[in-house]
Amino acid sequence: MTSPGSNPRVPPAPGSNVPGSIPRVLPHVPSIEVEAVSFAYPEGTRALTDVSLRIEPGETLAIVGQNGSGKSTLVRHLNGLLRPTGGRVLLDGADVRPVHVAHLAARVGLAFQNPDRQLFAGHVSAEIEFGPRNLGIRGAELAERVALALAAVGLESVATANPYDLGYSRRKLLALASVLAMRTPVLILDEPTTGQDARGVARVQDVVARAAAEGRTVIAISHDMRFVAECFRRVVVMRAGRVALDGPPSAVFAEAAWPELRASYLEPPLPAVAGARLGLGATPTGGAVVAALAAGPRNR
Ligand SMILES: Nc1ncnc2c1ncn2[C@@H]1O[C@H](COP(=O)(O)OP(=O)(O)OP(=O)(O)O)[C@@H](O)[C@H]1O
Ligand SMILES: [Mg+2]
Repeated sequence: MTSPGSNPRVPPAPGSNVPGSIPRVLPHVPSIEVEAVSFAYPEGTRALTDVSLRIEPGETLAIVGQNGSGKSTLVRHLNGLLRPTGGRVLLDGADVRPVHVAHLAARVGLAFQNPDRQLFAGHVSAEIEFGPRNLGIRGAELAERVALALAAVGLESVATANPYDLGYSRRKLLALASVLAMRTPVLILDEPTTGQDARGVARVQDVVARAAAEGRTVIAISHDMRFVAECFRRVVVMRAGRVALDGPPSAVFAEAAWPELRASYLEPPLPAVAGARLGLGATPTGGAVVAALAAGPRNR
């Protein structure tokens, strides 16, 4: 592994050179290769078949697809929670099979789809502390990580609460915060916007944007096509355990791909449909759609 800060795609974090501040240089961001991965659960369900993906350092990738198409199973392979029954997962070209899950956790953070499978501590701050503490972080840096993670998801006011006294949407944000505090170079969010109101979605969008701006790789599973189109530069569509489409939102949401999307029980986002009808492409800005509509049919 290269030394911290050697990745040219990772800019120094703001404030990292301020005297007395805690250094916030991100560790090296690895490439990820999923090489012909197949996976069957022990009782026989075949969840992945021959999935291949290469994810470059710093990419933002959304994974979409109908329920049961294998999205969560796929990301659980990236942090070693599951091991493929066929094929390989590589970080920086090295097979992760012999790497202990605790070591992978320092590089690949995964916020679970179901927060209740992730949360276990008696109060919110302890939950967030757990991951970085396991990485050997202590003292002022640990306190700072907890405070920043709490602030990132807007849970400062409930730092001492029992996680199970929070509603589902806030438990989901807490699960996200506890992964954020580990500052992993790869951040994976399994359905982060589920159950969130507009403010919660905005917080998640902000988390994604900041992590991407820092040069981290961000992978999110989502059923929210608008969130996907607005926040990610690459979209993978899964169907029945395979990759059905893989490309930028402008291609995956383009009219030519709609039959494939609909075969995967997905609807293209409204701006993509409006953009196609108005001749603006698959990822028009809201302003461009409004301007084209205001111009009236004779000007279109
Ligand atoms: N722990 C498990 N044991 C057995 N089968 C499982 C397990 N988890 C998932 N499956 C099965 O594997 C397949 C893929 O499931 P997975 O959870 O990866 O899909 P998903 O795309 O994340 O779905 P969703 O959108 O509902 O979250 C499904 O048929 C599912 O029923
Ligand atoms: Mg899932």
